[in-house]
Amino acid sequence: MAGSRILVRPLRALAEFQQCERIQQTVWGSAGASAELLLITAKNGGAVLGAFSGGHLAGFLYAFLARRNGRLIHWSHLMAVRPEFRDLGLGLRMKLEHRRIALKQGVRTIAWTYDPLQSRNASLNIHRLGAEVREYLPDCYGSFHSKIECGLPSDRFVAEWHIASPHVENALGGRRPGVTLGALSAVNEVEWDARAFPLNRRLRLTLSDRRLLVEIPSNPDHMRALDLDLGRRWRLEMRRVFQHYFERGYRVTDFLSPPEEEPRRAVYLLDRSHR
Ligand SMILES: CC(C)(COP(=O)(O)OP(=O)(O)OC[C@H]1O[C@@H](n2cnc3c(N)ncnc32)[C@H](O)[C@@H]1OP(=O)(O)O)[C@@H](O)C(=O)NCCC(=O)NCCS
Repeated sequence: MAGSRILVRPLRALAEFQQCERIQQTVWGSAGASAELLLITAKNGGAVLGAFSGGHLAGFLYAFLARRNGRLIHWSHLMAVRPEFRDLGLGLRMKLEHRRIALKQGVRTIAWTYDPLQSRNASLNIHRLGAEVREYLPDCYGSFHSKIECGLPSDRFVAEWHIASPHVENALGGRRPGVTLGALSAVNEVEWDARAFPLNRRLRLTLSDRRLLVEIPSNPDHMRALDLDLGRRWRLEMRRVFQHYFERGYRVTDFLSPPEEEPRRAVYLLDRSHR
């Protein structure tokens, strides 16, 4: 099941869109976007892409044309990869193909929401792709049935991917300035319990350095499965932190999660300099 045997292409047939419904059932427990909606969006200026492995749909991406701050953009509402195909680069390849299609259409920005506590998404969206975040939506979708959310408030970051920008070119080319974790001020001081779950000992909301670090759990699904109260505590603490610093002009510009560290760290970089 190597990533290189994967084909990424636009979806066209109704049967393919029906498979996307099944992936949504597997990943979230319900299908928010029907096959009919996907089909009609694909035919009318949106992008619905699939990643195939051995002829089977392993993941899909669904985006529609939208207007944001007066400009036409693509709003990427859903992307999902079946659990057994994760971490093979399929998410990255679908995003890169989406970028290629959007640039061809003259679209310069793709935006989407994601849960700020999902470290895999942060790694892909912020570090690999070069998306940035300056907007926090508390309980964005209200309470909805989701295997991932587990009943927590559905807080979301708005990721903005300026696909023709030098920042994105540099991120995609692996040309990012290095960041030394110990050299920057940390907003939250974290300690680990016996289960290797992180706990916030202290939140610092009075910092004003140009660059700051915010640590999140690297295993949110496991934490929510074993200790939902702790998951809820993280949700509310990080809501406070990000709302506070976004209001003061900071934006999320990078995410660091060296896989070799044990326990794995997952750290956002906040920056208040404007390019
Ligand atoms: C988000 C999602 C689509 C990503 O798909 P994917 O094919 O696994 O993504 P990729 O393999 O391209 O990238 C995953 C990255 O996360 C990294 N990663 C994996 N586990 C991680 C963790 N616990 N902490 C930090 N990073 C992690 C991987 O190493 C990889 O980075 P790398 O390529 O630099 O090594 C998939 O995880 C998914 O379907 N999630 C559930 C639905 C969802 O959240 N959708 C998005 C919002 S609609």
